Amino acid sequence: MTTPYNPIIVALDVDSVARALELVDSIGPAAEFYKVGMELYAVAGLDFVLLLGSFGKKVFLDLKLYDIGETVKRATHEICKNEAITFLTVHGSRSVMRAAVEGRGGSAVNLLAVTVLTSFDQDDLADLGYSVPIAELVELRVKKAAESGIDGIVCSPLEVARVREVGGPKLKLVTPGVRSAGAATGDQKRVATPAEAIENGADYLVIGRQVTRASDPRQACENILAEIKAAGSATSSGAH
Ligand code: C5P
Repeated sequence: MTTPYNPIIVALDVDSVARALELVDSIGPAAEFYKVGMELYAVAGLDFVLLLGSFGKKVFLDLKLYDIGETVKRATHEICKNEAITFLTVHGSRSVMRAAVEGRGGSAVNLLAVTVLTSFDQDDLADLGYSVPIAELVELRVKKAAESGIDGIVCSPLEVARVREVGGPKLKLVTPGVRSAGAATGDQKRVATPAEAIENGADYLVIGRQVTRASDPRQACENILAEIKAAGSATSSGAH
């Protein structure tokens, strides 16, 4: 049986293994890919990642590594020994990305670079002392990621088309900051709908609160898949 197309990665941004397992259980076959970020990793660590793998789920370990090269290389090397992990994030600065690629060695883990957080706007960059427009910083980081041997990019759905142009067809593009029309955006400042993100070239969508805070998380995933499918058939039936 072929696996149905499902680009959703559910962000398990919760503070306990019990809550995470409850979500995975209630979502069932509606999602096969989960993101474990800093919060859940802090409480549940690698054991939980391996447990998800034992359920046949894929794991995106979103630790956004950022440190001196040697430390990033050694941490990446240890993390990449675990086959349950499909994606690992590092920050998109050149020395960090190069060190991660070196540490990953021949492992099958895909390294993703974070360009600019989707919760950031121009004021947040100014706060860091950066006067460069967000779009230019994203492009610069994408070019350096591709040159460094990084496999994919985490970027805003509003930038994904340009990232594809700059980074080429091989990069896997993963977009958080995705919300269906009418859903609460929370602290995300640069959002698009799931269908827009896919149409613009995203390979995977990271969706957290819209699913995890829904009264029926499985239904929430299925609604998103239906939205994407409906938009896809509208496009392929000749609509522009
Ligand atoms: O709840 P929501 O759908 O906003 O969650 C988005 C997830 O994607 C969070 O886990 C957040 O840390 C992550 N993320 C992001 N922007 C990035 C990289 C990751 O929002 N650039």
